[in-house]
Amino acid sequence: MTDFPPIRKAVFPVAGLGTRFLPATKSIPKEMLPIVDKPLIQYAVEEAVEAGVDTIIFVTSHKKGAILDHFDPDAELESLLLAKGNDELRKRIHNIIPDHVSTRYVIQEKALGLGHAVWCAKNLVGDEPFAVLLADDLIRSKGSGCLKQMVDEYHATGAGSLGVEEVPSSMTDRYGIVSVEKDATERNYIRQIVEKPSPENAPSNLGVVGRYILPGEIFALLESVQAGVGGEIQLTDAISRQLDSKPLLAHAFEGERYDCGSRHGFIRATVDYALEHEDLRDDMLAYFDTLRDLRN
Ligand code: UTP
Repeated sequence: MTDFPPIRKAVFPVAGLGTRFLPATKSIPKEMLPIVDKPLIQYAVEEAVEAGVDTIIFVTSHKKGAILDHFDPDAELESLLLAKGNDELRKRIHNIIPDHVSTRYVIQEKALGLGHAVWCAKNLVGDEPFAVLLADDLIRSKGSGCLKQMVDEYHATGAGSLGVEEVPSSMTDRYGIVSVEKDATERNYIRQIVEKPSPENAPSNLGVVGRYILPGEIFALLESVQAGVGGEIQLTDAISRQLDSKPLLAHAFEGERYDCGSRHGFIRATVDYALEHEDLRDDMLAYFDTLRDLRN
């Protein structure tokens, strides 16, 4: 046991416009797009619950009712499935969020940026350390999920962290980029963070992915952040200021990340997750064989 307060709350910003998936995301939230048979948001919520989170906070727009509906129990559908003798399917929609976990919602009136979306959760989080998960970064791990890995590290160090991975040097302008410094325990502490630097100005090629454990003080910093890159209120800018008073770790997670906010990342995730389903695998592999000819 440690003396550090537990990470009980996780914020899910889901109020973005999802323009890269238009027209699909005109009426369906990006986070409800399915990878095989589960929406992106459910994978992220399951990752948070595995990490010990007991309060799920969705920062949503007025248009995102489907997300709320997805996590609401549906007794009618359950009894219908039961009547049809399909208890297996019924179990898959029962308690998508376990009973000990509660959900809260807050509306972000305008998509002013990720920093603003996180700030909207201020009153629901309070001043304790908390997690942020961006559901469009889907992370497949063989052992513990990415957030659980970060929570374990938090309990060992008391420091918050950002999920990071190496990105191609030519693509630094799509990520928050950090430079790091190792301490005596070989852990990487963040020295500097910059939002979407050009390859020439990037301090490294370590890109931030959508997993964060942040101290409650971040809300006060977000309040004073002005619109930055892309005219949006950037979480990166508040984190940069946070580094002056609290160390944060760069957590190079075990696992594979899929950028499901982009079409190619989404398609790759669909293929890789499909191959993990026993009932789909052989069929998919046989299908890929038929595609080999396309290269010629
Ligand atoms: P993205 O940068 O992927 O933006 O947001 P987006 O609007 O969702 O998608 P594109 O770029 O237009 O295709 C990263 C995460 O932050 C949330 C998004 O919902 C997504 O989970 N977000 C972003 C908000 O909740 N509010 C915002 O104002 C901006």
